[in-house]
Parts: sequence; structure tokens; C-alpha cells
Amino acid sequence: MGRIIAISNQKGGVGKTTTALNLSASLAMAGENILVVDSDPQGNLSSGLGIRKDQMKADLYAVYSGKASVEEAIQQSLISNLHVLPTSMDLFAAEIELLDKADRENTLKGFLRPLKDRYKYILIDCPPSFGLLTLNVLVAAEAVIVPVQCEYFAVEGLSLLIKLLWRIRGSFNDTLDLEGILLTMFSKHIVLSRQVSDEVRRVFKSKVYDTVIPRNIILAESPSHGKPAVLYAPNSTGAQGYIALAQEIMNDNSLLF
Ligand SMILES: Nc1ncnc2c1ncn2[C@@H]1O[C@H](COP(=O)(O)OP(=O)(O)OP(=O)(O)O)[C@@H](O)[C@H]1O
Ligand SMILES: [Mg+2]
Repeated sequence: MGRIIAISNQKGGVGKTTTALNLSASLAMAGENILVVDSDPQGNLSSGLGIRKDQMKADLYAVYSGKASVEEAIQQSLISNLHVLPTSMDLFAAEIELLDKADRENTLKGFLRPLKDRYKYILIDCPPSFGLLTLNVLVAAEAVIVPVQCEYFAVEGLSLLIKLLWRIRGSFNDTLDLEGILLTMFSKHIVLSRQVSDEVRRVFKSKVYDTVIPRNIILAESPSHGKPAVLYAPNSTGAQGYIALAQEIMNDNSLLF
């Protein structure tokens, strides 16, 4: 049985999409069957995998609005065992349309849970907000990876997010787990990066991954080529970071399966 993992942080620009892109690709390149879901109407994950709107048979919005089945919307990526449920700006409308639906927070869960036996991991990229789209992701998910940028205020933002996750666990999804906290955009020559990483580890202890993602321009460049960095420049420090993270996650979860 697969595991559904949300990649979430209400703060913008912390590396959620970069993590969804490169972690899903690293897990697939390690031989696992992976589905990655773009649940952010910005659609950065879809375009980072080289998928434009005119190349989508259907997108997540079409699935939410009942115009397509989840099967119709899922497509293969450049990596054969990495499948994508892409999105477009149309998904912005789902946030509003969901308001009128009964059982509205369980919609995505209804689409994704039946796919669990087909994939080892289903990773979901979230928008930087806490509306109905994110709530749907956190109800569908079994665990959350929280990327945290190594910058000032990281610990405050993180404490708030963990409180929110526990509230969602209490009200909507009593098995939601914190999979791990991932330090991103780490610069070893910047004192602040080290201070923030030390502080996050002091507060959140073993919940913080050993792997740290360095700041590396290749991670920012590769989406414009429609490829994850682990495919575009596998030897770059950024790609190596995500390959190490995939290994760490597979080793941790081998205890679960
Ligand atoms: N480790 C890194 N090194 C250098 N640049 C990075 C790194 N991680 C992410 N970036 C760049 O930083 C920006 C923000 O990253 P990303 O889009 O992954 O964040 P996000 O949390 O998904 O943002 P949003 O909240 O807007 O969805 C992007 O331009 C991305 O290419
Ligand atoms: Mg993003």
C-alpha cells in the first residue's frame, strides 16, 4: 500500500514545489511507482515537469468539477514510473465551487485513496494558503512534509503551522502524521542559515530530516527547461540533496511497510 504525503507550508516561496518536483522524480528514479499531484492553481509543478495546459487531457480542476475522471487526468511524465495529476489556473475556481458542496473537505480524498495500491508514494504540492484546496489535501494525506527556508522567523512560522496541522488532525483527519521537516535553501557560508537550522533542530528534534537542501541555482533553473533538477543536472548539489532525501525517506518508511 502506498503512502499519501502532502508537501505543505502556508508561507510562500519556501521550496514546496521544488521539493514535490525533485523528491517525486528522485523516488521514481530509485525505481518506485510515484504519483505527484499539483494542487496549486499556480501550476508550477506541472510546468516544471514540462506539461503545458494544451498538453493536458484533463486537469485537477476537471476532476474536482466532475468533468473528467482521475484516470483521465493522470499522465506519464518524462520518467516512465512518475505519473502526474497536473493542474492549471482553472483550479482557482475550485476553491469557490467547493464551498457549495456537501462533504467538501473529503473530495480529493475520495479521488486519491483508491489509487493507493498502485503507487508507493502519492506526493501532493500545496498552495501557500490555507483554503479549501489545502484542507482537501490535508484530509486526503496520511502525512505531511514541511519545507522550511533557512531564514529568520522560520521557527515562529513553523510553530504556527504545526498547531494548524494538529487542529486539522483533531477535526478532520485523526491519522494525519508529521512525516518530517525539511530545511531548504541552506547556505553553508551564511551564519544565519546555520543558526536557523540549529534552532529548528533544537525545537523539533528528530522530526527534522538529516538531509538539508542547499541553495543551488540549478534547482531554480531546471523548471524553465521543463525538467526536475535530478534529471536536468543530477550531479548538482541541489539534485544530490533531493536524491539523499529520497533515500532517507525510503529508509525511514521501510520500517512502516
Ligand atoms: N534550494 C534552492 N536553491 C535555490 N533556489 C531554490 C531552492 N529551492 C527553491 N528555489 C527557488 O526559490 C523559489 C521558490 O521555490 P518554490 O517555488 O519551490 O517554493 P514554493 O514554496 O512552492 O512557493 P509558493 O509558495 O509560491 O508555491 C523558486 O524560484 C525556486 O526555483
Ligand atoms: Mg509552489
